[in-house]
Amino acid sequence: MTTSSQALQVLSQFQTTAVETCFHDRHIGPQILAGLDGKNWSLQDYVARGGYQALRKILTTGMTQDEVIATVKESGLRGRGGAGFPTGLKWSFMPRQFPGQKYLVCNSDEGEPGTCKDREILQHNPHIVIEGMAIAAFAMGISVGYNYIHGEIFQTYERFEAALEEARAAGFLGDNILGSTFSFQLHAAHGFGAYICGEETALLESLEGKKGQPRFKPPFPASFGLYGKPTTINNTETFAAVPWIINNGGQAYLECGKPNNGGTKIFSVSGDVERPGNYEVPMGTPFSTLLELAGGVRKGRKLKAVIPGGSSSPVVPGDLMMKLTMDYDSIAKDGGSMLGSGAVIVLDDSRCMVKSLLRLSYFYMHESCGQCTPCREGTGWLWRMVDRIERGEGRESDLALLDNVAENIMGRTICALGDAAAMPVRGMIKHFRHEFEHHITHKTCTVSAYV
Ligand SMILES: Cc1cc2nc3c(=O)[nH]c(=O)nc-3n(C[C@H](O)[C@H](O)[C@H](O)COP(=O)(O)O)c2cc1C
Ligand code: SF4
Repeated sequence: MTTSSQALQVLSQFQTTAVETCFHDRHIGPQILAGLDGKNWSLQDYVARGGYQALRKILTTGMTQDEVIATVKESGLRGRGGAGFPTGLKWSFMPRQFPGQKYLVCNSDEGEPGTCKDREILQHNPHIVIEGMAIAAFAMGISVGYNYIHGEIFQTYERFEAALEEARAAGFLGDNILGSTFSFQLHAAHGFGAYICGEETALLESLEGKKGQPRFKPPFPASFGLYGKPTTINNTETFAAVPWIINNGGQAYLECGKPNNGGTKIFSVSGDVERPGNYEVPMGTPFSTLLELAGGVRKGRKLKAVIPGGSSSPVVPGDLMMKLTMDYDSIAKDGGSMLGSGAVIVLDDSRCMVKSLLRLSYFYMHESCGQCTPCREGTGWLWRMVDRIERGEGRESDLALLDNVAENIMGRTICALGDAAAMPVRGMIKHFRHEFEHHITHKTCTVSAYV
């Protein structure tokens, strides 16, 4: 069945009024969120859904490490944490013959504004992440792993701990898994809610018990990671995609999406839509279909703009967004933005773009770890300039200055938070310059009231 006929089938069958979660019928060909009802998270339920068959397959059929990595490469799976780096390729960087300890880390920090998918996977389908991590550990010859969970979602942390206990008791984790020679110890750890701890090297510092500040790269975690040992880090959703790939084959996964953009993706749709929530759809699904799944723009208003991949991705005007498909290549090449973490923030025509940027700029200023001067000082300058423009105290020279400060942050910092702070500024000025000019000239907003 083609994506569009699947989409039509789903759209014609809306059955639920549930919002703000993943329990609805509005997924298209779901692989990670399929069959979830909010209660069936346990090992027994997961096994009943076919869980742990992929791990059993690799351990009982004699699949080799190279074959597992080749299957993941073939699948076209790209990291779901934001950068979209090919997962199989990343796994091949792990020096498998390294004689000392090697580590596997799951990044469940999920601090990017708008993103709320990883916590739902962990809360409602935790064993799919455990199984994906065990398969990854097998493929890379790793015996110890950690899942680093965001510090403000303690219920989710406790749920994951409970699932770990179940998996250990059933022999899916620990020594000699399913009677094989493969052993893997997996632990949960929680942070304390700092956005920067989602950056992989800051996460490693935090996991080591230090202040969560990014490290210089290179060296990359594959050679110098946790406690200085070779480490592979992937996002929660990335690991959750792995069991399906092993069960169904890399080619089948690739064919679910688009070339170079395999599989399904969970999009966290928020903002001005009727039904905010998480929607799992094949890569390459038209944005217009995703918007329809989310109930359309609230109150039938006009779509003004979309931030397509979490708050750090440049804004895309609504008209252009309606022509794009939801995959890494379309959003980057045709939309000039990024798919990022898949957090889709919808803005209707009642939104002031200056005020929207003000909120984003405040976030990045607040979350800068302060190590590098362009980010520490620059994020504050950006926020203060947008603030004065919003209050009607902007100067004519401010727009050029804003762009100049943003340009001078980009590429001049230790980690990508600097770029993440600068990109929304440049995107807003590029597409909505007239709103900023109106604020400066008339000291008022082009949209008069929020409704
Ligand atoms: C400031 C910042 C915050 C980040 N936050 C997250 C996060 O919350 N979750 C995540 O998976 N990746 C996050 N990343 C990306 C990670 O550094 C890393 O690329 C990712 O975990 C790799 O996993 P993947 O290849 O499966 O995407 C962040 C990056 C930066 C620069
Ligand atoms: S770019 Fe910002 S957040 Fe990243 S290391 Fe430098 S100061 Fe810290």
